[in-house]
Amino acid sequence: MSTVQHKVVVTGASQGIGAAIAEVYAKKGAELFLVARNEAKLKEVADRCLQAGASRVEVFAVDLSNPESWASVVNQAETRKFQADTLVNNAGYGVWGEFEKLSLEEQLKNMRLNMDCVVSLTHLFLPMLRKHQKSYVLNVASTTAYQAMPTFAVYAASKSFVLSFTRAIHHELKKSGVVISCLVPGATSTGFISRAGLEHAAEKAEKVSMEPMAVAKIGVEGLLKAKLEIVPGFVNVLSKGLVPLLPKGLVESAAASIYEKK
Ligand SMILES: NC(=O)c1ccc[n+]([C@@H]2O[C@H](COP(=O)([O-])OP(=O)(O)OC[C@H]3O[C@@H](n4cnc5c(N)ncnc54)[C@H](OP(=O)(O)O)[C@@H]3O)[C@@H](O)[C@H]2O)c1
Repeated sequence: MSTVQHKVVVTGASQGIGAAIAEVYAKKGAELFLVARNEAKLKEVADRCLQAGASRVEVFAVDLSNPESWASVVNQAETRKFQADTLVNNAGYGVWGEFEKLSLEEQLKNMRLNMDCVVSLTHLFLPMLRKHQKSYVLNVASTTAYQAMPTFAVYAASKSFVLSFTRAIHHELKKSGVVISCLVPGATSTGFISRAGLEHAAEKAEKVSMEPMAVAKIGVEGLLKAKLEIVPGFVNVLSKGLVPLLPKGLVESAAASIYEKK
């Protein structure tokens, strides 16, 4: 067991994978700084984390799709004397539907959270992270990062961005004490499906879904081992291996059919 008492900022910590990551760190006795919009849910997660062994939990309710919020997260951490050694960029969501029929504003807002926020928080937190001998960033992408996805165009492209960005910065930071990794989950049983407007595919998704706690444990373990790309679950590892071997058009048609409304 790690003897380091981590100080961890987790975005999107009010439920799902983010809340599970917070609980994994709580069991290690970590200090936590939990960020999402829903303050009541954040407080519930904070209580669970304290019961699980967290030594301190701070919550900060803010809308991370608003560019003004990004600096406020770092400012709040500094004001509360929370010297983070770990940043988990997990907040994100998808919007399902044909690109042309979806609102442009909603898709741009989605891009701000899934990409701009990840880039900004990574940049803004690096000076604080570098104050520690060893520090960590975990960016949460998705297996949709591995192929274009009709009816999930912006979401899949945003996750390709997160993966590519993380891989590049991992190399840039190789000689520093900062480890940056990408967690690449496949379908996971969280609020993601309903938030994306994908209730019609819920039953299908459930058959291959992992539990958020299983994803979180693999994610944190991989990060602490400085693994660059962390793909949880055999099915997801298999599909990551197969996708590049198949014709792109075939993969894209198959991907679209997963979410089709019958
Ligand atoms: N579930 C899956 O199948 C799956 C698969 C691959 C990757 N992922 C990725 O995993 C990450 C976590 O998603 P999840 O599955 O755990 O979904 P979830 O249960 O819907 O949780 C999403 C989290 O993000 C927060 N969030 C959403 N919009 C926000 C905003 N504007 N500002 C601040 N926080 C915001 C939510 O909190 P509030 O609503 O309180 O703000 C919530 O805590 C996402 O990046 C997602 O893309 C999920």
